[in-house]
Amino acid sequence: MKRAKITIVGAGNVGATTAHWCAAAELGDIVLLDIPQTEDMPKGKALDLMQSSPVFGFDANIVGTTSYEASAGSDVVVITAGLPRKPGMSRDDLLGTNAKIMTAVCTEVKKTSPNAIVIVVSNPLDAMVQRALQVTGFPPNRVLGQAGVLDTARYRTFLAMELGVSVEDVSALLMGGHGDTMVPMPSCTSVGGIPVTQLIAPARLEEIVDRTRKGGAEIVGLLKTGSAYYAPAAATAQMVEAIVKDKKRLIPCAAYCDKEYGVGGFYVGVPVILGTGGVEKIVELKLTAEEQKAFQLSVDSVKELVKVMAGLV
Ligand code: NAI
Ligand code: 2OP
Repeated sequence: MKRAKITIVGAGNVGATTAHWCAAAELGDIVLLDIPQTEDMPKGKALDLMQSSPVFGFDANIVGTTSYEASAGSDVVVITAGLPRKPGMSRDDLLGTNAKIMTAVCTEVKKTSPNAIVIVVSNPLDAMVQRALQVTGFPPNRVLGQAGVLDTARYRTFLAMELGVSVEDVSALLMGGHGDTMVPMPSCTSVGGIPVTQLIAPARLEEIVDRTRKGGAEIVGLLKTGSAYYAPAAATAQMVEAIVKDKKRLIPCAAYCDKEYGVGGFYVGVPVILGTGGVEKIVELKLTAEEQKAFQLSVDSVKELVKVMAGLV
């Protein structure tokens, strides 16, 4: 069977680490692409990664480049190109610069990989993925964003730490935008099948949710020179895997919601079934009045961001 072709645009921390996880999991051949100003950096990272393959025993062709030619005909394109946050910056501070970068990248992706499924990672995520949809003109099921898998992974980590149990036994869901308005769903969170609300008192659970909301900023504050990349890259690789192996994973992604949840044509984090067709289904949950209110607040903040972006591109 032919290997999938996976292009990762942006060979920085998230991009290179995503290439690492994808290669180690033998998800396909990988093209690591960055801007010409980086000169040979993507080539160096790709070659270095290739040289780890005999040790870990994976077969993948990994190419580093600054030209879209090598990426032509990709099955999946992951976009991590853009500036990361520095301490004191919000994801939204990146809006103008990263929207222009997204425009440039998506113009090339549209020409060279017209059938690809595009996973956007660059921030501010919910606006960047909307920009990717606008520029590529691809059908919405083929353009999605990574946020929910990461945010849920952070939440699951904190819950496992709190309860002293394996992360494998914690199953959880967060919805909404990738930011301070993300919406935890305690009704969809369980540990070994037990509802989390039976294990953790409401006030403590709220503290854990709050730490999750600020999970990205916590890492920025510790690293001081950029933002998180191991967990974001692992989350992205899980989405790539769901697509190239047609796994039909039911995971939270930033997906284009029109009638769904009454969003009206914006990207927001919702549970989806992810497979070889990209977003194959958006799963609509019955939200409680409180969840609906929090979700609407999150949707409103995404809409505001997209409105501001329209004046910057
Ligand atoms: P980084 O600075 O390490 O890497 C970014 C790379 O993008 C650099 O190598 C840069 O040269 C490249 N780049 C810039 N313009 C480009 C263009 N036009 N074409 C191709 N490449 C270009 O940053 P890092 O840490 O990898 O983060 C990348 C982005 O991902 C940031 O916007 C960050 O905020 C976002 N992010 C999103 C997460 C999420 O959950 N959605 C999680 C973590 C980061
Ligand atoms: C994060 O959540 C910066 O969005 C990035 O770590």
